[in-house]
Amino acid sequence: MKDLGIGIIGTGSITGKHLEAIATLDHAKVLALHNPKLESAQKAAVTFGLPVYSDLEEFLALPGLDIVCVCTPSGLHLEPALAAARAGKHVVVEKPLEINLSRVDQLVSACEDNGVRLEVIFQNRFSPDYLKLKEAVERGEFGRLLMGNAYINWFRTPEYYSQSIWKGTLEGDGGGAFINQGIHTLDLLLDIMGDVKSVFGKVKTALYPIEGEDLGAAMVTFKNGAIGNITAATSLYPGYPERLEIYGTEGSAILEAGKIVAWNIKGKESLVSSKDTSSSGASDPTAIGSELHAAQWSRFLEAIQNDSPNLVNGKEGRKSVELIRAIYKSSELNQELFFPFEDS
Ligand SMILES: NC(=O)c1ccc[n+]([C@@H]2O[C@H](COP(=O)([O-])OP(=O)(O)OC[C@H]3O[C@@H](n4cnc5c(N)ncnc54)[C@H](O)[C@@H]3O)[C@@H](O)[C@H]2O)c1
Repeated sequence: MKDLGIGIIGTGSITGKHLEAIATLDHAKVLALHNPKLESAQKAAVTFGLPVYSDLEEFLALPGLDIVCVCTPSGLHLEPALAAARAGKHVVVEKPLEINLSRVDQLVSACEDNGVRLEVIFQNRFSPDYLKLKEAVERGEFGRLLMGNAYINWFRTPEYYSQSIWKGTLEGDGGGAFINQGIHTLDLLLDIMGDVKSVFGKVKTALYPIEGEDLGAAMVTFKNGAIGNITAATSLYPGYPERLEIYGTEGSAILEAGKIVAWNIKGKESLVSSKDTSSSGASDPTAIGSELHAAQWSRFLEAIQNDSPNLVNGKEGRKSVELIRAIYKSSELNQELFFPFEDS
């Protein structure tokens, strides 16, 4: 089996989680990092103990480089990802794929045109309890789905925004609580409930002096007839573990911070796996571990080695961006919007 060489673009907080995750895997090695600012590159070389290139072309020309992972601010995913795809590298992009549908579509097309894979990091899809839920829904154990809710009622301190040049900005983050924090749980909701028929959203900047929203709610109708509520916030003190609720004709399940806290199917024993929700980013963005990133990397590398399809591809990554963009537009227009949604 061939060892795969990985390079990471961006040397901020999430880069360390990828390094920790990849270090636990066989047949994969991070060769180098890239940061275009010489001073930041030099600092990162000391922090991470790896070669850090400030010249993108030089970085992309590294011998043995197969995969490039993009860990730049969300509104700066496209350009480095395009360069990587054009250099013939497989591309892994942190969530969200990009901040609007035009930029998402350019990225997806570039990977298709250059014959490289595109994987979007949504590590919560690989949590054991979420996988249990997904499999049970697919086996029909919950019956016909009636309702799916996602609540991401989180809190961030004022410093979270004031100490970052891009968080909460429209250009850098694409918005606020929905596109940065809520998107993980929205991705799971869509993965379980399927395609959206329509949405009515309301977003507000209620607490912090940011451009994006720090509070929002939406009502969704799914194509399968089910309905759902979504809330996302970074203004709700002290911040509670994110919650995913699925209700069907035969039963229901609730996950908090990726753990099953309620599971009741008619005629079957109920199940609770854990009340330990300490891995939630509810009030601390650094609270996440690297195990789920490792699980996603492992599946992605396996797909490359086996020449089989990768799971969280561009089409999957586009869905949550489409929903969030529709929520923003619906709030602006004060009207229900129907899918497929396109940015105007
Ligand atoms: N999967 C998760 O749970 C998770 C958690 C945190 C962040 N993220 C995502 O990861 C991405 C980065 O977030 P972060 O918290 O690490 O941000 P950060 O601000 O800590 O780091 C961003 C890094 O990108 C660098 N950078 C900026 N412009 C660049 C460019 N043009 N080329 C190369 N490097 C550039 C910065 O110097 C910095 O090193 C975001 O898209 C965010 O949404 C995902």
